[in-house]
Amino acid sequence: MSAATWIVTGGSGFIGSAFVRLARARGWARIVNLDALTYAGNQENLAGLAGDPGYEFVHGDICDAPLVASLVAVHRPAAIVNFAAETHVDRSIHDAAPFLRTNILGAQTLLDAACAHVRGLDASGRAAFRFLHVSTDEVYGTLGPDAPPFRETTPYAPNSPYAASKAAADHLVRAAHHTHGLPTLVTNCSNNYGPCQFPEKLIPLVICNAREGKPLPVYGDGMQVRDWLHVDDHCEALARVIAAARPGASYNIGGGSERTNIHVVRAICRILDELEPAPAPRERLITYVTDRPGHDRRYAIDAAKIREDLGWSPRITFEEGIRATVAWYLANPGWVERVRSGAYRDWLVTNYAHRQEVAP
Ligand code: NAD
Ligand code: TYD
Repeated sequence: MSAATWIVTGGSGFIGSAFVRLARARGWARIVNLDALTYAGNQENLAGLAGDPGYEFVHGDICDAPLVASLVAVHRPAAIVNFAAETHVDRSIHDAAPFLRTNILGAQTLLDAACAHVRGLDASGRAAFRFLHVSTDEVYGTLGPDAPPFRETTPYAPNSPYAASKAAADHLVRAAHHTHGLPTLVTNCSNNYGPCQFPEKLIPLVICNAREGKPLPVYGDGMQVRDWLHVDDHCEALARVIAAARPGASYNIGGGSERTNIHVVRAICRILDELEPAPAPRERLITYVTDRPGHDRRYAIDAAKIREDLGWSPRITFEEGIRATVAWYLANPGWVERVRSGAYRDWLVTNYAHRQEVAP
């Protein structure tokens, strides 16, 4: 067990909670989780850590500079890992303001506190400290069907307000390294899936709707491609980056599992039909609806750099991972019921009521 403390932000969300669970199970560090508990944050995701003396929850906002400064001063972390963000592209299209606030100003607030912290460390503390910023492949924009996958050197070309806000934060992290010498790391990962993902995102939305016999909304022609990465593979990669990457580096992290959206939706239907048979195949629920404005056609990651530098590659195939994910949602109906409370229903009206059924 490590005696070091890591401050994790957004640790009550989907990926952050998987990271915190793994960090505690493996003894990577003592964890202080700073989370504002927005609609996407869920204390239940970390209920298993109740009573763990190596885990502390702090309810607060990464934009709250005095709070962040005091947490850093009290805990003297060996690392800050920033997951906190507004994360849903469709929401950023409806209202970009919360994305700019949390994803950009929040990231800078953390960087300022980290710089102040590092200035007060001795040489060995400074050499050991890491600021890891968890970003997305969406900063690179969209790929043509035969284009090579994104590399760390691919120019940034974000297409949604969400992606633009993440790109801005990546640049601020780079600037903190270049200007202040902060030992930063940036990771750009592909679409994650797994347990505890909020059911506004494609995979949990389709699982939950299909179980209830509701329409499965597929945007446009359903031929958009994402490179699916199991959340546990992602978290292992992040630990490897914290432990072994050179300050100032960035790494792409992908699952090596490019799939069209319609393939993913059909796979979920088939697994559900097998695990929980229904009177008729769930594929009948697939409904093609008006596309997302500016919808990126394809994302794909070239993970050669992290494989060659740090020896990481994904272990969970999409077929294994999606089956286990469907099984998790079937086994946790209470979790689903509780997160789909009032505010979630309002979002379904905002995002889906105006979409027309269209021919694929
Ligand atoms: P999520 O939406 O499930 O969770 C976000 C968490 O951040 C929530 O717990 C929320 O309460 C917290 N949060 C939001 N605003 C905050 C604030 N101002 N202060 C403190 N906490 C705040 O997100 P996720 O899917 O777990 O994504 C985590 C990170 O990974 C994000 O930075 C996201 O951009 C990045 N990412 C996610 C994916 C994916 O497929 N989910 C892919 C690439 C990158
Ligand atoms: P999403 O899970 O929102 O992730 P991202 O937009 O960050 O990639 O969407 C994954 C893909 O699924 C994306 O191409 C949009 C599509 N999609 C649908 O077709 N229908 C839906 O209802 C949702 C939420 C997404």
